Amino acid sequence: MKLLALESSCDETAAAVVEDGERVLSDVVSSQVALHRPYGGVVPELASRAHIRQIVPVVAAALDEAGATLDGIDALAVTRGPGLVGALLVGVQTAKAIAFARRLPLVGVNHLEGHLSAIFLRDRDEPAHDVPAFPHLGLLVSGGHSALVVCRAPGDYALLGSTRDDAAGEAFDKVAKMLGLGYPGGATIDRLARTGDARAVRLPRPMRGRGLDFSFSGLKTAVAAHLAAHGVPSGAALADLCASFQHVVVEQLLRKTVAALEQTGLRELQVAGGVAANSGLREAFARECERRGVRLHVPPLRRCTDNAAMIAAAGYHRLRRGERADLSLNATATLPLGT
Ligand code: KG4
Ligand code: ZN
Repeated sequence: MKLLALESSCDETAAAVVEDGERVLSDVVSSQVALHRPYGGVVPELASRAHIRQIVPVVAAALDEAGATLDGIDALAVTRGPGLVGALLVGVQTAKAIAFARRLPLVGVNHLEGHLSAIFLRDRDEPAHDVPAFPHLGLLVSGGHSALVVCRAPGDYALLGSTRDDAAGEAFDKVAKMLGLGYPGGATIDRLARTGDARAVRLPRPMRGRGLDFSFSGLKTAVAAHLAAHGVPSGAALADLCASFQHVVVEQLLRKTVAALEQTGLRELQVAGGVAANSGLREAFARECERRGVRLHVPPLRRCTDNAAMIAAAGYHRLRRGERADLSLNATATLPLGT
C-alpha cells in the first residue's frame, strides 16, 4: 500500500510517499527555520502562511521524488494534532481536498505517534533493519513533548511519565536563546558542548526520586541565574556552560528512563523526537543500554526531527485497523498520545 502523508504541525512543511508503512520512497521537508529565527521562536501566524505557500510544491516534490503520481497513491495520512491549529489545518485541509478529489481513503494521525513510528522506516534500497519488538519502552523528547511510554503495539501506548513544565527541546531552545545562540538552539548547544567540560558549572539536578515525570524549568532558571551573576560567556566558558547544561538534561532523561526500564522489566528502548538527535544523549544512552543489556533503537538524525514519513508509518497501521477519517476531520491543538 502506497501512502502519501502530510505533516504541518509546527514549522516544517513535509510530505512523503511510503510503501507498506516502512519503505520510504520520498521524504520532503521544507523548513521554516529561517523565517522564524529573527523572532527567536515559531510565530504561529507566519507558520500558517508559510505552510499555505509550501504545501502544494512540497506534495508535488514528494510525488516526483517517489517517481509517482496521485494515480499510484492508495491512501492519505495527515497529522491532525497536537500542534499549532492554524499550521495543522493547512495539512488537514490539503489532505482532505486530495482525498475528496481522488476518492482516496484518509486517516488522521497523532504527531507523537508519528515520532514513535519513525524507527520502523527504512530507505528505499536499504535492507530491513533491526526494529524494536512490542512491547518496548519509548522515550519521546521533542520541542513540545517529553514522555516515557510503554509502546504495547502500533497505536497502543501507556503513558508512564511526562514533563511537568518545559519539554526537553524547549529547555534547549530557551537556554540557547539566553546564550544568544539563535533559534532553534538545541543542535548549536550540542555542537558547542562537544568541546566543553560538563563539570565546569554546577547546576541543580531536578526531579530526583520524583517518579517518572520530568522537569526542566528549574534548570533553565539556574542557567538564567548563572548568567545574571557571571554574564553571558564566550569561547571555552560558553562551551563549558553548554556541556554542563546538556549533561544535566541528559542525566535526568537517562535516570528516569532507567527507572522505567526497571519498573516495567522491558529490555528494548527507542528514543524518538528532535532531542534524540543530541550526540551527548545518544552516547550516554548507548553506554548505559550496553551495560544493562538493553537493546537501544534511535532513528537516524533526519528522522528524529519532524517529517512526514513518520506520519505515513503511523497512518499505515491505523488504516490497516480499518480506521478512516471523513471530511469532518479537524485539527486539534492538544491531542494525547493514544488518540
Ligand atoms: O521533534 P521536533 O523536530 O519538533 C517537535 O515536534 O517539537 O523537535 C525539535 C526540537 C527543538 O527543540 C530542537 O532544539 C531540538 O529538537 N533538537 C535538539 C537537537 N536537534 C534538534 N536538541 C538537542 N540536541 C540536538 N542535536
Ligand atoms: Zn515533532
